[in-house]
Amino acid sequence: MSAISESESRVGGYRQAFDQSVNDREGFWLDAAKLIDWTTEPTDALDSTAAPLYRWFAGAELNTCFNALDRHVLAGRGDTTALIYDSPVVGKKKRYSYATLLDKVARFAGVLADAGVTKGDRVIIYMPMMPQAIVAMLACARLGAVHSVVFGGFAAKELAARIDDAEPVAIVTATGGIEPNRVVEYLPTIATALEIARHRVGTVIVKDRPEVPGRAVDHASAGTAWWDWDEQSLTATPRAAVAVAATDPLYILYTSGTTGTPKGIVRDNGGHAVAMAWSMKNIYGVGPGDVMWTASDVGWVVGHSYIVYGPLIAGATTVLYEGKPVGTPDAGAFWRVVSDYRVKTLFTAPTALRAIRKADPHAALSRQYDLSCLDALFVAGERLDPDTWTWATALLEKPVIDHWWQTETGWAICASPRGLEELPLRAGSPSFPVPGFNVDIVDEHGQTVPHLDEGNIVISLPLPPGTLATLWNGDERYVQQYLSAFPGRYLTGDSGYIDRDGYLYVMGRTDDIINVAGHRLSTGSMEQVLAQHPAVAECAVIGVHDEIKGQKPMGYVVLKSGTDITDDALTADLVAMVREQIGAVAAFRDVVVVCGLPKTRSGKILRKTMRQIVNGEDYVVPPTIEDTQSIAVIEATVER
Ligand code: COA
Ligand code: AMP
Repeated sequence: MSAISESESRVGGYRQAFDQSVNDREGFWLDAAKLIDWTTEPTDALDSTAAPLYRWFAGAELNTCFNALDRHVLAGRGDTTALIYDSPVVGKKKRYSYATLLDKVARFAGVLADAGVTKGDRVIIYMPMMPQAIVAMLACARLGAVHSVVFGGFAAKELAARIDDAEPVAIVTATGGIEPNRVVEYLPTIATALEIARHRVGTVIVKDRPEVPGRAVDHASAGTAWWDWDEQSLTATPRAAVAVAATDPLYILYTSGTTGTPKGIVRDNGGHAVAMAWSMKNIYGVGPGDVMWTASDVGWVVGHSYIVYGPLIAGATTVLYEGKPVGTPDAGAFWRVVSDYRVKTLFTAPTALRAIRKADPHAALSRQYDLSCLDALFVAGERLDPDTWTWATALLEKPVIDHWWQTETGWAICASPRGLEELPLRAGSPSFPVPGFNVDIVDEHGQTVPHLDEGNIVISLPLPPGTLATLWNGDERYVQQYLSAFPGRYLTGDSGYIDRDGYLYVMGRTDDIINVAGHRLSTGSMEQVLAQHPAVAECAVIGVHDEIKGQKPMGYVVLKSGTDITDDALTADLVAMVREQIGAVAAFRDVVVVCGLPKTRSGKILRKTMRQIVNGEDYVVPPTIEDTQSIAVIEATVER
């Protein structure tokens, strides 16, 4: 039994639900499955026949888009607002009822079908935060096609890697996105990605934005048709929802791994729908008539789950905000949106709160707005530091609930599940494991560690519905990367501890993944880019503490002997290369030239020790170090 399940601190509705999820898994999840409309009802919850790859609700059938739209219209709620679009960057605000959204989705499903997209085909969606991104996702789901949304801040090379892995029939895009300081044209990026990729994409469908130059028609290229979204919609026939197996994939979402190759997280239809419906009710306490605003991006998992699928499956109203927490136009933007749309539940990343706090330390701007509608603020994406938690709690006088999750899990592993029970919160902790997630902290031998000792955070298999089914084209990779270290347990890649009352504390990654402004990035992929520079002999990228973004990448570079390049010129080159090959979102701006990197005698760079030195943490020099002087070299860079 894990330290968590021994805890006596959990009481009432939460404890009952957690215990049932462990002791009566079938009953618990079959009961949760009643929140979904099935074309073939599930008779069993878990299918363990291919363990350690588990499947949920095998034999059942449903359509996720039907659950997100049609069923609410059929229940007479067609006039209810499904989606509110608010874009300070283009100066637009618009409401879509469930009936209107259904109409648009069914028609766009017709456009996709005309492009040859059928059940099981992949479609890449590379779009900014505009309603058509949601329409495209739901239209794929309607046809039983598998979408893969790629965040607009990624460059052509990253997009090409995803095209080659997912092998999409079509790409859906827009002419571009709008960042506060510039317009980001998407079509040249798509064209370059298509040139780099080996896979041939049949059709690119482009939603024209008047604010961004470019037209589909200008990009005719060999083997790929370029269509205009609006033009094709005029002649497309609306499509009905297609029933798919609960175990069929709904989407692939690529995320950073330790190496530069992105991993395609595969989400199924049935387990995901159940997890979304259950979590909306029991974690967030949001249902029909409520407004939920998740201030993230549809390109991230948080956006998939709680901008798009969760709120719509629950029949609530979701807000799609195309803007930033600060600068569009000011640090009062979040409070304006909450007040304007009577948002009940706000979900954002700690970095957004820190950015607001820096611009408006006493939250003076919040006093211009009536925030009485707000029930709770949820945060995730990185650790919510106690200072920011205290600030936000005092400002809102509402619960500020940190909850911990990953792209892989698709929903929260640990939270204070407000819909089940209001549990006391503690600074720095995302509270308790959510029902279905049997969390433990283990040492390197897989032994549970005592309370307060830090170790690897693991989750006993099976993971609950809605978590990753596998990696796209990568069952073996999934098992090797997540399930092999501690057989029978899923390795989260995070380290942390549990206090005596059962509260979990997540302290950081055990691998080379970093979290920059809530964006998950691989330092390995940045190192691959730096290593291509002709002057670079070797390099290491580490995550260093940043006041607003939590972390920022910093490149340590050793030059080839005889190289004649100034530090400034080298930095400019490397920053431009990372921006071009990974994307602006990497926020790579800092380079330090050193005469050597600390390494073990077998040649492994001591990145963890470097990180500890640069971040001012305690560190122990590993006995296997090749040259102790190399530590002084890194220490000297901190003193500079
Ligand atoms: N398309 C194209 N470029 C993008 C982009 C997108 N969708 N999103 C970010 N970028 C670019 C930015 O324009 C910036 O480019 P620049 O170097 O030319 O200035 C770069 O990527 C880095 O962006 P970011 O890390 O977001 O920094 P910022 O200084 O622009 O903004 C914050 C800082 C804190 C305001 C912003 O990061 C933020 O709102 N974070 C919240 C993130 C979030 O919600 N994450 C979801 C996880 S739950
Ligand atoms: P992503 O896959 O982008 O959602 O990033 C997942 C990683 O972000 C996790 O493995 C954690 O390292 C970190 N993370 C997310 N939410 C939290 C949280 N509430 N507290 C601490 N770390 C978090």
